[in-house]
Amino acid sequence: MADSTMVRALQTEAWRQLQAHQSQLSNSGTRITELFAQDPQRSATLGLTCGNIHVDFSKHLLTTQTLMLLVQLAEAVDLPQAITDLFRGDAVNNTECRPALHMALRGLDVETHPDIKPDVDDALARMQTLVDAVHSGTWRGYSGKIIRDVVNIGIGGSDLGPAMVTRALRANHLDGIRSHFVSNVDPAHLSNCLSQLNPETTLFVVASKSFGTLETMQNAGQARRWLIAAADDQEQVRVNLHKHFIAVSANKQAAVDFGIEASQVFPVWDWVGGRFSLWSAIGLPIAMAVGMPRFRELLAGAELVDQHVATTPLASNVPVLMGLLAVWYRNFWDAGSHAVLPYAQDLELLPGFLQQLEMESLGKSVDRDGEAVAISTGPVIWGSAGTNGQHSFHQLLHQGTGFVPADFIAIASPSVADNLQQHQHLLANCFSQSRALMEGKTSQQAEQELLGAGEDGARAASLAKHKAVPGNRPSTTFLLDNLNAFNLGSLIALYEHKVFVQSVAWNINAFDQWGVEIGKQLSASAFAALNGDEAAAQTLDPSSQALIGLCLRQAG
Ligand code: F6P
Repeated sequence: MADSTMVRALQTEAWRQLQAHQSQLSNSGTRITELFAQDPQRSATLGLTCGNIHVDFSKHLLTTQTLMLLVQLAEAVDLPQAITDLFRGDAVNNTECRPALHMALRGLDVETHPDIKPDVDDALARMQTLVDAVHSGTWRGYSGKIIRDVVNIGIGGSDLGPAMVTRALRANHLDGIRSHFVSNVDPAHLSNCLSQLNPETTLFVVASKSFGTLETMQNAGQARRWLIAAADDQEQVRVNLHKHFIAVSANKQAAVDFGIEASQVFPVWDWVGGRFSLWSAIGLPIAMAVGMPRFRELLAGAELVDQHVATTPLASNVPVLMGLLAVWYRNFWDAGSHAVLPYAQDLELLPGFLQQLEMESLGKSVDRDGEAVAISTGPVIWGSAGTNGQHSFHQLLHQGTGFVPADFIAIASPSVADNLQQHQHLLANCFSQSRALMEGKTSQQAEQELLGAGEDGARAASLAKHKAVPGNRPSTTFLLDNLNAFNLGSLIALYEHKVFVQSVAWNINAFDQWGVEIGKQLSASAFAALNGDEAAAQTLDPSSQALIGLCLRQAG
């Protein structure tokens, strides 16, 4: 991706026309419901399919002209070339001089990097061997007992993806192994987890691309102490620690220095970003939970989307449209946040996963050349599993002053075989929420309802103002036929590519995250101050000094 040839979106004719178009839609009070009335085919035209996922874009502030202008914008910023560059393995992560080739983990053969495919195949074969050994009982703990619990110790991309997918594929879990995820440096996280476990039957996966992340190193060290301390014969544990610890890291030496056998360090490479890494051996906990055949289905589902992105025209390219719509709302409608609402309890960790994927990728205020961006970039991503949100934050979605585009994710087949009726309630709520956001309710309608329910005229008129819902709030609905590994792989890959599309429109690097470093640097001096280092305390700001002083006094 040649930076000098990047066209700034803001300077394009398409951008100017989109601004004019937005003003026209806004000033005329165009409603999504009118767009449906004008075009009986709207639901079919704007309902696209990618693999087994039906994506309904019809409930958007989107006309034929909007779509045309958004595609023109994509062409003006040379999105097709950027996609080619990404898939070719160019150093699209320009601040770290690296390609972003997570697609190679799920089948993409990158001609410019012929060494990658054999490495990926080898890692998958090693994963298979490990998973088989643990499940067959060949792999045993220090006392000869079969492994029953696998604890992933990692954080960020080394936790969120594996944890989310493992949780989502609950229905596919193999018998015999329970999965656990520990990420927070708060000792309560590890300690709560360990309190349920038997050291003799526990295998830890220390997942850290850098093998230097504070939280992971602290938790891994504590897990090792727990394992040794619990044994009658501590020496027996020490010499058999390799039976309880494996690592996934790009920093093999650091893992070995920690005490993990070199042959038990699984690779992850610098061309895989942490938040894009669940497809690598970082996904080991997933494979442990559901087995390698399912893990490979996950990869296949994502690969299908990779092929779709690379070969589908912009106007019907699902992640391209997802990204362009995100730009449309962020830059032209000033939407500062975006809700992700999976109507599937098994997808309850998806919003958290997408927070890292989108906000670590797109939370940037300088462009690829280091120049201040002149436009808003990534919105806040938030949400939770439906229907729970309906009884908390949906009030704001329906009647708040803000404008929050939403993604609804629904699964056609029930997750629990013997309770179809509850599943139908779930789906009914999902579709009704997006409908309510779109249609709203006028105060006249509200007043009529109140009168119909026997309310007197004055009270009905006054209460109707509170019950009116503005509507015209856009959403996308993703409908999966099943929540299986293949479809989940596709869904995640859709979001990954959406993020890339946004980054191209905004001319920012989606694959670095320099902003997280400052907190890591500052925590060292705060930690020293908490340990009584006066000189370190003096380097802190007055507020931090006071807070640490209080902590020290209150903790005695
Ligand atoms: O804090 C940011 C970050 O670097 C993420 O990008 C990454 O996923 C996470 O920390 C964990 O990093 P590692 O896998 O190196 O421990």
